[in-house]
Amino acid sequence: MEPFVFFGGKGGVGKTTVSCAYALRCARDGQRTLVVSTDPAHSVTDVFDQPFDDSPRSVDGIDGLDAVEIDPEDEVTRHLDELRQDLSEQVSASMVNEINRQLEMAHGTPGAYESALFDRFVDVMRTSEPYDRVVFDTSPTGSTLRLLGLPDLLEGWIDRLIHKRRTSIDLFEKAAVGNTEPRRVMAGDPVLARLQERKEFFEFAGSALHDDAAFFLVLNPDELSLNETERAIATLREEDLAVRGLVANKLTPSPDPDEDGRGARYLRDRVETEAARLETIRSEFDPPLVAEIGWRSAEVTGDLLSDVADNLDIETAAEPPTHVSSGQ
Ligand SMILES: Nc1ncnc2c1ncn2[C@@H]1O[C@H](COP(=O)(O)OP(=O)(O)OP(=O)(O)O)[C@@H](O)[C@H]1O
Ligand SMILES: [Mg+2]
Repeated sequence: MEPFVFFGGKGGVGKTTVSCAYALRCARDGQRTLVVSTDPAHSVTDVFDQPFDDSPRSVDGIDGLDAVEIDPEDEVTRHLDELRQDLSEQVSASMVNEINRQLEMAHGTPGAYESALFDRFVDVMRTSEPYDRVVFDTSPTGSTLRLLGLPDLLEGWIDRLIHKRRTSIDLFEKAAVGNTEPRRVMAGDPVLARLQERKEFFEFAGSALHDDAAFFLVLNPDELSLNETERAIATLREEDLAVRGLVANKLTPSPDPDEDGRGARYLRDRVETEAARLETIRSEFDPPLVAEIGWRSAEVTGDLLSDVADNLDIETAAEPPTHVSSGQ
């Protein structure tokens, strides 16, 4: 299977749990595995009962498994700082204040989080070399997936910019040194170099997501979650990304046949409703159901995680990526 695996789904359905369980299983099968979480609640830390942060650390007691927790807030700040640095090298001092003001405002804009996280995902894929398998706890959203169309858009834009920069540098040099002296060529223009780099970045992202990534959606057996899953399948499909499978989590357990109290009747009712929903998924949703995980009575950590891992019918052997980092 592809080396990069994403688990998406609505809030609270079990993305972190399933990602960690799958990562655990991959590591046990001998794949050097990294699990990447972007959960601000530090859930991976809770699942493995061990602190993680921005750089990969090995998970105690599990050979071949590393985890990293990316804080979205830090990521936005880092992203904007880089942009500030980049821009201030290229504009006059009087512009720097204005840029700082604009960037402060950008911090809170919708999409700043997602776009900073998307950059980070792509960076992790570009530098995934030490690992056979990278498991992402959360998949790119509709708005970040639209960034994949950017290289085409940038192509025309960069060409027009090159033309404009050429003309203006040409005019500037004519005025400065006259027409007789040899002139500097426009090579190494920092603005263009930066745009070119962004274009290549999104090109890499597009190829890696199309050729080297598999997507799974985690859902719970309720109507909201089903609807959300249907939409997510469609969004991914619009970008030509196929969802490989669906993981149904938090299924109500059946009571023993001889139990007949109120609690047992309630559970039986729920099991029946959920069974109908799972049937809908099987008959109407394209991707197969690859796991059915029952609702445990406690938080899923330790042995329970191992238990959940055994429930996942998802291949663990990873093929090497076809698109290997071109930059950095
Ligand atoms: N099968 C299960 N049985 C019992 N508890 C579960 C099960 N799956 C997940 N949980 C619990 O439900 C809570 C939410 O799960 P998890 O953190 O994996 O969801 P998530 O989709 O990552 O949430 P978020 O969207 O907030 O990141 C956790 O406390 C987890 O331990
Ligand atoms: Mg989570």
